[in-house]
Amino acid sequence: MRSLFVILFFICFCPFFVNPLSPSLNDDVLGLIVFKADIQDPDGKLSSWNEEDDSPCNNWVGVKCNPRSNRVSDLVLDNFGLSGKLGRGLLQLQFLRKLSLAKNNFTGSISLSFAQLSNLRVLDLSDNGFVGSIPSDLFSQCGSLRSISMAKNKFSGPIPEKLGSCSTLVSLNISSNQFSGSLPLGLLSLSGLRSLDLSDNMLEGEIPKGIGSLKNLRAINLRNNKLTGEVPDGIGDCLLLRSIDLSRNSLSGWLPSTMQKLSLCNDLVLAKNIFTGEVPEWIGEMRSLETLDLSENKFSGQISDSFDKLQSLKFLNVSMNALNGSLPEAMSNCANLLCFDCSHNYLTGGFPSWVFKLGLQQVLFSDNGLSGSIENAFASSKENSRKKLLILDVSQNKISGEIPFAVGDFESLQLLNMARNSLTGSIPAKIGQLKSLSILDLSENRLNGSIPSEIGLITSLNELKLEKNSLEGNIPVSIGNCAALISLSLAHNEIIGSIPTSLAKLSYLQIVDFSFNKLTGALPKQLANLVSLQLFNVSHNQLQGELPAGAFFNTIDPSSVSANPSLCGAAVNRSCPTVLPKPIVLNPNSTDAAPDTIPQSFGRGKKILSISALIAIGAAAAIVVGVIAITVLNLRVRTATSRSAVALTFSGGDEFSRSSSTDGESGKLVMFSGDPDFSTGTHALLNKDCELGRGGFGAVYRTVLGDGRSVAIKKLTVSSLVKSQEDFEREVKKLGKVRHANLVGLDGYYWTPSLQLLIYEFVSGGNLYKHLHEKSSETYLSWNERFGIILGAARGLAHLHKMNIVHYNLKSSNILIDGSGEPKVADYGLARLLPMLDRYVLSSKIQSALGYMAPEFACKTVKITEKCDVYGFGILVLEVVTGKRPVEYMEDDVVVLSDMVRGSLEEGKVEECVDSRLQGKFPAEEAIPVMKLGLVCTSQVPSNRPDMAEVVNILELIRCPSESQDELGDFV
Ligand SMILES: *[C@@H]1O[C@H](CO)[C@@H](O)[C@H](O)[C@H]1NC(C)=O
Ligand SMILES: *[C@@H]1O[C@H](CO)[C@@H](O)[C@H](O)[C@H]1NC(C)=O
Ligand SMILES: *[C@@H]1O[C@H](CO)[C@@H](O)[C@H](O)[C@H]1NC(C)=O
Repeated sequence: MRSLFVILFFICFCPFFVNPLSPSLNDDVLGLIVFKADIQDPDGKLSSWNEEDDSPCNNWVGVKCNPRSNRVSDLVLDNFGLSGKLGRGLLQLQFLRKLSLAKNNFTGSISLSFAQLSNLRVLDLSDNGFVGSIPSDLFSQCGSLRSISMAKNKFSGPIPEKLGSCSTLVSLNISSNQFSGSLPLGLLSLSGLRSLDLSDNMLEGEIPKGIGSLKNLRAINLRNNKLTGEVPDGIGDCLLLRSIDLSRNSLSGWLPSTMQKLSLCNDLVLAKNIFTGEVPEWIGEMRSLETLDLSENKFSGQISDSFDKLQSLKFLNVSMNALNGSLPEAMSNCANLLCFDCSHNYLTGGFPSWVFKLGLQQVLFSDNGLSGSIENAFASSKENSRKKLLILDVSQNKISGEIPFAVGDFESLQLLNMARNSLTGSIPAKIGQLKSLSILDLSENRLNGSIPSEIGLITSLNELKLEKNSLEGNIPVSIGNCAALISLSLAHNEIIGSIPTSLAKLSYLQIVDFSFNKLTGALPKQLANLVSLQLFNVSHNQLQGELPAGAFFNTIDPSSVSANPSLCGAAVNRSCPTVLPKPIVLNPNSTDAAPDTIPQSFGRGKKILSISALIAIGAAAAIVVGVIAITVLNLRVRTATSRSAVALTFSGGDEFSRSSSTDGESGKLVMFSGDPDFSTGTHALLNKDCELGRGGFGAVYRTVLGDGRSVAIKKLTVSSLVKSQEDFEREVKKLGKVRHANLVGLDGYYWTPSLQLLIYEFVSGGNLYKHLHEKSSETYLSWNERFGIILGAARGLAHLHKMNIVHYNLKSSNILIDGSGEPKVADYGLARLLPMLDRYVLSSKIQSALGYMAPEFACKTVKITEKCDVYGFGILVLEVVTGKRPVEYMEDDVVVLSDMVRGSLEEGKVEECVDSRLQGKFPAEEAIPVMKLGLVCTSQVPSNRPDMAEVVNILELIRCPSESQDELGDFV
């Protein structure tokens, strides 16, 4: 079949030779292949069209054949995504009856002589990109064409007069093009025409007088053209008309009374013309009317009583005319009415009571002169019709009286607009029952009383407009539940109180107008979270304090905040009194809200385990691993200590200084104070009686220097982990530089490859753990002593952090108390002596004290910073105040201290957490903020914790509240 290509080539360029050349070939295969070759088929929809097939009738997509002649009868390629121009191939399909190419992307003008397709009955070219005028011969020999659609293209030019010769035409649809000129008289010859759609073009002139000859016409649509003149009487002769749309033209005059003969007509749409006269009495004869749209004309006079005959009427729109008089009672017979729009007329009289009896969905009465109360109409409404009403707009009338309680029964209402009337009384709380309401507009009335808090029940509300009334009271906090709110105007009322913080939850808010009220207090800082804001007008109130800082508020129009004498901030050009550098909100809840890795993995709603429990479990897991690690370490340490024991034995047990100078292992002693008189103390290393304690890094012994000074010597048992001598000395020297009243000073060190000693200042009073948990209940620490310990420890830690040293191992047994009760933080920075800052070692070996360990130790992705000390400090604070261990093991329960305090705080009985030995002997105004501070320090997210310098500031503020009452108010 290769030769076919040659033939195709020929056909395309020499169409006149087609017939002589192809007596043996199927014309339809040729035609379709040529058609396909001319167009683009990006989706490959026509891939089944194979030129090697003998016939297209079997499995070519979109092709249907007449079974008797085996010739193509239908070609339906709707919505195939095809583009390109129609080629001559189609003309080969001599037996084609239906050609439908709708909803593709064909372009170009139609130059084909469709008249050659003498069997064509249906031609649908709608929804494409065709341009140009209608091919002249399409209508001149339109043979048997029944239906033509060219809608939604870009055809232009006049409708050809020759149209008249298509006597078989039943349907013509050329809507949505750019046809111009007048309606051709030839149209009137189409006596078989049932449907004529010329809408959305640019046709002008008058509707032809002889239109009545289209006796079969069922639907005529001339909408949105430029037609002028009157509707001809003849229209009344098109007795089968069911649908008439003449809207959006410039038709004028009275409606011809012949139209009353159109008793089959369902839809009469005459909107947006310039028809005049009264709405005719005879309209009642058009018994089948379901839709009557006379809106936007110049109809005048009263609404006819004859509407009562329109029993099928569903949609009645007479808005935007010049109708007057009252709404006829007779309309109560329109039992099927769903939508009634008579807005923007001059209607007067009372609000008809039948309105709420018919089961209407939409009642649009806006902008008339209706007066009196609507309470009766509401009260006499029928139960089943109440639920049907979706839209009620009675705005801009003269309605008086109160808003009826019964409004709450119209529970399907989506729009309730009663603005610009003379309503009095208060807004009924029952309005909260309107669960579907999206727009509530009661503005510009004389309403008083306060805004009912039930407004917060209307969670679908998008727009709430209550401005220009005499409303009093507060803005209800419940407004924060109206999560869909976009626009909120309460301007020009008498509203008092402060702006509720809950407003900041309404993240869709674009427009907020509270201007001209009597609002006081500060603007909630959280308002800065309102990302969609376009307008926030609080001018002319008595607001005070600082404007929220944030995107919208940084660029707020000054006029939106003007006339509030005590507001401060850049927008009002008034600077605010300075507060602490970084505001810390002591909100225990913030610890949970933090978007950290640990809580998130456990889903928000279902709180399977508390966060603290997770941490405790995390810690426990680390400790289980830790036991193994310690076991391994212990093995190594044992060999190390046995070697050092040898060294010590070798040193003779008397002259340590001598051994340091003569020892073959080149021991090196360095005293930072420059006093190396260490001679008398060496025995201490071997004397178990002088052991002060043991920690993660080794045992501590007390000894006395030559000058009588006591020192504590720490023998590092993790010696195998210690770095090279060079590294060891560098780190230790750094620690030696730290001097602070609340830190245990490092006086010197001794180094051999197998033995390392750290020489510390001796602190006499024992450690805090013993003071808190091991003393008898008679000799407990007083509140003032405890506060002093907390503050001192905070100062010590703050100093360490200033020196860029992280403690890593804060716990009560590492806080020593000196003779005068002053706390000194011990054991700081030793983790730096490990070969690397391994969080595994830190969390298991060193940070073995359960409960003090910051959650980031258990979380590989979070960097460990000095904020881990802040966490440990927070636990320490709670421990000191409550006298309880960070984790207490009860009979069958584990109590996590921070959890317990947080829970008590939420229940409002945090004072009960204070050490029972202090009950009645502590100032609550100090103890409670101190506990809150402790909780903040234990935030799960390191960045949420304050730094130690801030902690010191806050503690000082808590101790001396009189000096800075205001600032403190912000925190506690
Ligand atoms: C039609 O073509 C235009 C431009 O060539 C393109 O933007 C559009 O997406 C096409 N439409 C379809 C339905 O293929
Ligand atoms: C004319 O065609 C358009 C586009 O396909 C369609 O929306 C409209 O309903 C058609 N008119 C009639 C009367 O069928
Ligand atoms: C903390 O959260 C609880 C429960 O979510 C709430 O009842 C309590 O009022 C909150 N406390 C503060 C200070 O926000």
